Amino acid sequence: MFSITAHAQEVKGSAKAGEAKVWICVGCHAINDYRADWPQVYRVPKLGGQNADYIVASLKAYKSGERKHPTMRAIAGSLNDQDMADLAAYYSTQTPTSPRNPLK
Ligand code: HEC
Repeated sequence: MFSITAHAQEVKGSAKAGEAKVWICVGCHAINDYRADWPQVYRVPKLGGQNADYIVASLKAYKSGERKHPTMRAIAGSLNDQDMADLAAYYSTQTPTSPRNPLK
């Protein structure tokens, strides 16, 4: 598999392929109002409904170290451009709101 190309930015995401990859993320991102408690208490942002480009940009920023959250850096570092595009495509098709959380 040769995944390194000059057109890495143009990778097309597939929501279907992304659905098979979100198991990596659901442990934190699927839980309403979940707070990670290491290394300090963080609110885990909701990804559902976010813009696909924004999600990819965020993942790249973690991978490059521009955004510094340690867990997300480790996770983003293990994703390639195709994974990021697929996950972003998947999450952008989800709904952002949850009827279960009356405070939002
Ligand atoms: C161990 C818990 C954990 C896992 C697993 C995890 N995340 Fe995160 N994620 C977080 C936390 C905490 C933040 C907020 C960090 C910060 O403040 O920068 C975050 C932030 C993000 C952001 C930025 C959101 C924003 O609104 O700026 C994106 C995008 C993201 N995660 C995508 C993913 C994807 C895709 C996966 C699976 C491949 C994943 N995360 C797995 C905990 C996790």
